[in-house]
Amino acid sequence: MQKILISGGAGLLGSHLIHLLKSRSISSSILSRRKKFEDAHSFHWDTKQMTIDTKAFDNCSSIIHLAGAGIADKRWTPQRKKEILDSRVQSTNVLFESLKNRTHSIKTIVSASAIGIYGDGASVWKNEESSIDSGFLQDTCVAWENSVKRFEELGIRVVILRIGVVLTPEGGALPQMALPVKLFVGAPLGSGKQFISWIHIDDLSRIFLSAIENSAMRGVYNAVGSNPVSNKEFYQTLAAKLGRPLWPIHVPAFVLRLILGEKSDIVLSGQRVSNAKLLKAGFNFNYETIDHALSRFNL
Ligand SMILES: NC(=O)c1ccc[n+]([C@@H]2O[C@H](COP(=O)([O-])OP(=O)(O)OC[C@H]3O[C@@H](n4cnc5c(N)ncnc54)[C@H](OP(=O)(O)O)[C@@H]3O)[C@@H](O)[C@H]2O)c1
Repeated sequence: MQKILISGGAGLLGSHLIHLLKSRSISSSILSRRKKFEDAHSFHWDTKQMTIDTKAFDNCSSIIHLAGAGIADKRWTPQRKKEILDSRVQSTNVLFESLKNRTHSIKTIVSASAIGIYGDGASVWKNEESSIDSGFLQDTCVAWENSVKRFEELGIRVVILRIGVVLTPEGGALPQMALPVKLFVGAPLGSGKQFISWIHIDDLSRIFLSAIENSAMRGVYNAVGSNPVSNKEFYQTLAAKLGRPLWPIHVPAFVLRLILGEKSDIVLSGQRVSNAKLLKAGFNFNYETIDHALSRFNL
């Protein structure tokens, strides 16, 4: 029977994924920095001290690597930027170094990455072969992905998922976008033309599972729905769902830069990302349109 170890598994995506795995009777355990989780299904690691309870690997066939300091949680000070990068690369290195010199049963690692790797792409479609410019998010994702690709040296199959904006009412971007709309102050951000390549959390959890079960999958895949929408269309759909008006005046980019600093890149940059490679690998999405994705949520 397969068992999956999930780093950062107590977070937003991990908790949802664990739910899916349970429903399929697949056992999982998590790696966490927090000791309070310690039980038969969770193991402690310290990614700064590079320590890990290696019992975590016992009987595991796959690793899902989600750990990383929140990109949108805090202002991007130099110290925070370092934490965002180190928490991803160092945590990957802890896993790599721990497996390098031991007998283990890991066959596959599936790691998160992000579509932020494409920078600001205007309305140009991006696929996994698209060129990547320099910038904080781009450089972070490249370093993160390169650290994960090394697992191939250990004979472990590597799948990297460049994840889009994950839609769930439980946390992340959606509740933050919905709040001003609920308070009657919702408006598109910046030009409103920047694309949002979204993915429903149910589809994303199934993609992680497919990446483990489908041994033909290898390398980088964009994990986004089939129909990215502009920031304006996203807010219009959200406002319609919430039964609220949307202000016709956009929130100017300079105001967002003033409030959020460099982190405003997250909302002012857009990526129109293609999922064609994932479709070709045989994955079927349940949520094709933004209306459908938002329709079931209690926001
Ligand atoms: N949610 C999205 O829309 C989205 C989009 C694109 C990419 N992603 C990526 O997918 C991954 C999972 O996302 P998520 O939304 O589930 O994030 P999350 O809720 O913030 O969970 C990430 C987990 O990483 C661990 N972590 C946090 N800071 C850390 C640090 N400094 N060092 C080591 N571990 C740390 C935490 O686990 P413990 O506290 O238990 O250690 C946390 O629960 C992240 O890497 C994220 O960048 C997410």
